[in-house]
Formats: sequence, structure tokens, C-alpha cells
Amino acid sequence: MHEGHLPVLVDEVISMLAPAPGSLHIDATLGGGGHTERILEATNPDGRLLGLDADPAALARVEARLRARFGGRLVLRQANFRELATVAPAADFGAVDGCLFDLGLSSYQLADRERGFGFRAGGPLDMRFDPSRGVPAAELLATLDANELTALFRRYGEEPKAARIARAIVDSRRVAPIGSAEELAALIERVLPPNPRQPRRTHPATRVFQALRIAVNEELEALEAGLHAALDLLRPGGRLVVLSYHSLEDRIVKRFIQSERRGCVCPPEVPVCVCGRNPRLRLITRPSLTPTAAEISANPRARSARLRAAERLAA
Ligand SMILES: C[S@@+](CC[C@H](N)C(=O)[O-])C[C@H]1O[C@@H](n2cnc3c(N)ncnc32)[C@H](O)[C@@H]1O
Repeated sequence: MHEGHLPVLVDEVISMLAPAPGSLHIDATLGGGGHTERILEATNPDGRLLGLDADPAALARVEARLRARFGGRLVLRQANFRELATVAPAADFGAVDGCLFDLGLSSYQLADRERGFGFRAGGPLDMRFDPSRGVPAAELLATLDANELTALFRRYGEEPKAARIARAIVDSRRVAPIGSAEELAALIERVLPPNPRQPRRTHPATRVFQALRIAVNEELEALEAGLHAALDLLRPGGRLVVLSYHSLEDRIVKRFIQSERRGCVCPPEVPVCVCGRNPRLRLITRPSLTPTAAEISANPRARSARLRAAERLAA
């Protein structure tokens, strides 16, 4: 096991994907390659895996760490998983046995002070998974008005004090732009001082940071697109496994699986199905899986993880 990013719920992921020799898998969120490594081990000697990440640093890291061991069995592409429908067939992964999404950011990204993901990052407040595309977080903070910032923190962070924080940001940027994650975290700490009667379990800026990251990377839209594409790529019997880390992501995954289990999308008042859609997924995890206390103490990042898995039906 390598040290940079410990893969979360890795035994459970392997048991849900049930990878066999000769099979084809997609890891849509390569990160440090921890899950990829286990899948390639389990599909020895001839299983192949397509690994995607929006972040070029993740691909370089996995290339250096795993290429010599797995050779041509490991296929790497820098891509957003919202483009899976075109990227996978172009890489000869048009019909696969399993697809994994391990959402959010890796410990490498969090630790990189130049990326702006962590509260103590002194570098630019960027937060893009792919630093060559989209709008950095600092630009959102500099250009959105107080109402837009409030809506963003509410929608993507479920932050109850969104309006107060947004006003403080607008006041502060009149004096000087908010350039780093560290400055933003310090500003939020000033706006939301500790309440001795309600000790905090997380940093007061957690929800705002989550909201900015989701907005910058259009994470929820990408997830919707990625799940639909993955389902189309799965062979009958193929497995979809998703690890999510907060309720907004998990809600999308849960609803997606529910709707594909049901198939029919006719409104309830229609007496006989006219849409003709058949169920395309069978749920495997009921209820969803969460890490044990032992895993959380060994890897605190696993704390909020939730795993949902489903199997592709022949429809
Ligand atoms: C939690 S980490 C994955 C860790 C990995 N499973 C491991 O064991 O090392 C999530 C990774 O997904 C990438 N990512 C997030 N959203 C993405 C998207 N829409 N398309 C492609 N990669 C994405 C991030 O850049 C990050 O490297």
C-alpha cells in the first residue's frame, strides 16, 4: 500500500466489482491509482483497465507508479468523466465489466498548496481539477455579487450562514482581492467565531470550500453525465460502483440507481406504461456501505464515504 492517498473502502469496492482475469474495467477517477492497482491485481494476467482523471498530475503519478508493473494492461487518458461516452470507446473500452467512480478530490490535491483546495493553502485559490479549463475559485469570489455568492454557498454547501459569509466577502474584496485559500478560510473564521456551547467538529469554512469546488468543477453536472455514460458502457452483468462523500453527490447517485431500477418513467396517472422503458439496473448494496470505525481511524478521509453499487441488466 502506498502512502499518499489511501483508497477508501477498497475491499468492498473489489467485492462489488468482482473483477476477474480477462475483464475490462474503467476507473473514472484515478487519483493516486489505489483502486486501479487492486483491480489490475485481481484481473491478472490479462484484464485491462482504462483510468481517467481530469488532473494531469494524477496521470503522471500513476504512470510513474504503476506502468512498469502493469504495462499495456493499464490505459490512461486525461479526461473529465463527463466525456466518458466518447473517451471510452475511442480507447477500445466500448463495452466493459465494471466502472468505478470515487468522487471528490485526492489527498495529493488537498496537500498541494498551489491548488487552493485546503484551508491552509497559501497559493492561488484555484480548485480546478483540470487547471487548464474553466474558471478558478478566486475569479468566482471576485466577480459574483452577494446574492449569487449566497445562492452558491446554499446550493452547493448547504451553508446556513451563507448570506453573512457572502456579505463579508464582498466587503473584504473592496479593500483587496481574496487571493488564497488561507485568506478565505481566515475570513470565514472571523465571520463565524466559535460558540463555546456548540463545539465544532469541522472547520467553519468546510461548507464554503465544498460549494466553491463543486461550482468550479461543475461536479454535479459531470456526475449526472458520467453515470449515464457508464451505464451505457456496461455489459449485462457489469457492475457500477460509486463512492460519494457528501449528501449532494449521494442523492444524485441514489436517484439515478432508483430511476434505472424502475425503468418506466410514465407519470403515476397513466394506467398502462407508454414509455416502454425497462429497468436497466439491479441494486446490489442495500443499504449502502460505509467504512468501519477501524478504517476511519486509519484513514480519516474515509469518514463520510458511502458506497452504492448496482448491476447492469440485459435490457
Ligand atoms: C478521491 S480521488 C480518487 C482516488 C483513487 N480512487 C485512489 O484510490 O487513489 C478523486 C479523483 O477524481 C478526479 N476527478 C474528480 N472529478 C472528476 C471528473 N469529473 N472527471 C475526471 N476526474 C475527476 C480528481 O481529480 C481526483 O484525482
